[in-house]
Amino acid sequence: MRFKKPQLNATRRRLDAALTIEDLRAIARRRTPRAAFDYTDGAAEEELSIERARQAFRDIEFHPAILRDVSKVDTSCAILGGRSQLPFGIAPTGFTRMMQTEGEYAGARAAGSAGIPFSLSTMGTASIEDVKSANPHGRNWFQLYMWKDRDRSMALVERAAKAGYDTMLVTVDVPVAGARLRDKRNGMSIPPALTAKTVLNALPRPQWWIDFLTTEPLAFASLDRWSGTVAELLDTMFDPTVTFEDLAWIKEQWPGKLVVKGIQTVADAKAVTDLGVDGIVLSNHGGRQLDRAPIPFHLLPSVVSEVGEDTEILIDTGIMSGADIVASVALGARFTLIGRAYLYGLMAGGEAGVRRAIEILSDQIERTMRLLGVTSLDELTPEHVTQLERLTPRAR
Ligand SMILES: Cc1cc2nc3c(=O)[nH]c(=O)nc-3n(C[C@H](O)[C@H](O)[C@H](O)COP(=O)(O)O)c2cc1C
Repeated sequence: MRFKKPQLNATRRRLDAALTIEDLRAIARRRTPRAAFDYTDGAAEEELSIERARQAFRDIEFHPAILRDVSKVDTSCAILGGRSQLPFGIAPTGFTRMMQTEGEYAGARAAGSAGIPFSLSTMGTASIEDVKSANPHGRNWFQLYMWKDRDRSMALVERAAKAGYDTMLVTVDVPVAGARLRDKRNGMSIPPALTAKTVLNALPRPQWWIDFLTTEPLAFASLDRWSGTVAELLDTMFDPTVTFEDLAWIKEQWPGKLVVKGIQTVADAKAVTDLGVDGIVLSNHGGRQLDRAPIPFHLLPSVVSEVGEDTEILIDTGIMSGADIVASVALGARFTLIGRAYLYGLMAGGEAGVRRAIEILSDQIERTMRLLGVTSLDELTPEHVTQLERLTPRAR
């Protein structure tokens, strides 16, 4: 018997004790003021879209093959003209430094050292150039919201190209802001307003506030200062008139790979594929836009059979475990994106927390692959997974 060496660093100890993304979420919740935690954790309206998406992943049944030599496992894959050491990347998220001040820098550095792509949002809180400096050798992707002001959106596209971003994700599921009721109830604004309620809630979380008040003030990568609610900001910024023609126009401006994020039907998957985009992300924006939206994981097999030969299919929304990622790849997704899974890590412990989130998912992917009897992602097939359905559509 040997005694375990005590871990003296409290953050490290906390993170080491987290064995799942759900564990990181619990730590994040304890350490983050409610308005910021709820902004991240919450979704739109009754939050059914995200609940159903996560449930669909929990309802996977795997079919393992036995007696295979799985001593060595390769979790790397080709995606959008480059490699990734793992079949997932970090999804674009806005206001990230408000959750924890290391924000995008933590995500970009952790992604770079894990050899996976990092995506910076138009609503990111670090500049295009600073993220590139934080992750100089890794892959950086830029997510674009088309603004009412076309010249300004194109200026962003040019900056991203100049800084060496290799892929642009155009998000198409935000013609208007979703109704994030938790934010409304919390009076959530940017930057957080110091009301009596906010101060009271902050008292047990001094570290977050010390951090927030002593580091570089929150500013948007691509916006001027804003002091309204998130919903007001989205409604002012985003253009409800954007159509397929605009997408074709953006495609002409961007020299790298172009991916459309927020596809929710087979017909739209087909329509954008016909425009010649390099990839699509099946996503309902983590349940933050339309509530009761299609479950991306359920949509996956029919989209794969319709356009799987013609474009690269990515998926997100509801991923909380490496097993969810393995199941998505088995059903034909080339790649996956994680939003909250990384943000829970960030709020639980900054860059070390993001590294821990990636490590948890990576261990789960590797173990699931071994237990399924496969040694590379290419060996995963639809025969490895059954989607058990609770919610089946009524026959029409
Ligand atoms: C706090 C937060 C902010 C987000 N901001 C953006 C954004 O600025 N642009 C975007 O395209 N998607 C945004 N998303 C959606 C993510 O890119 C991704 O689609 C979603 O988080 C996937 O679901 P998951 O959180 O269950 O992994 C955001 C998601 C969260 C949780």
